[in-house]
Amino acid sequence: MLLAGLSGGRLVTLEEDAETFGLASHNLEPLLTNGRLEIINAEGLAWLNTYEGDPFDMMFLDARKESYSDDTQFELLYRNLSIQGLLIVDNVLARGGVIEPTAHWQVLTQRFNSRLSADTRFRSTVLPVRDGLLIALKLR
Ligand SMILES: C[S@@+](CC[C@H](N)C(=O)[O-])C[C@H]1O[C@@H](n2cnc3c(N)ncnc32)[C@H](O)[C@@H]1O
Repeated sequence: MLLAGLSGGRLVTLEEDAETFGLASHNLEPLLTNGRLEIINAEGLAWLNTYEGDPFDMMFLDARKESYSDDTQFELLYRNLSIQGLLIVDNVLARGGVIEPTAHWQVLTQRFNSRLSADTRFRSTVLPVRDGLLIALKLR
């Protein structure tokens, strides 16, 4: 849908699980021919660490929170997002666990949210829809 609404641009999607990657490749096969969509079987941050292309205008994270909870990983996201780019992160309420975490992944989600809200390079908000959608605009 994103690609259909744009005259240019491209979409890169990362999936580390081989089976899910296979399913996504199968489902999206008709769209793979024009070179505007790329499906990559890799861990997201490991791939981003080797990426040398243009920064992205939008990043959507639906990955495990452990994957982007430390400073180095967060800076990798920052570096690869364009100024005025949007970082969108799903499940930031961690099923309510960001208030009183009972699991490690909820602690990491809480940490990630705090880091981002304190980061003056971003203006961010959380939409309380379903499990919480964080939208952050990179200001500089
Ligand atoms: C919640 S599902 C996303 C589902 C998809 N967005 C949808 O709406 O159908 C999360 C997916 O991200 C993958 N994933 C989780 N952490 C990842 C990471 N660090 N790098 C790449 N893929 C990851 C999982 O294998 C899983 O398929």
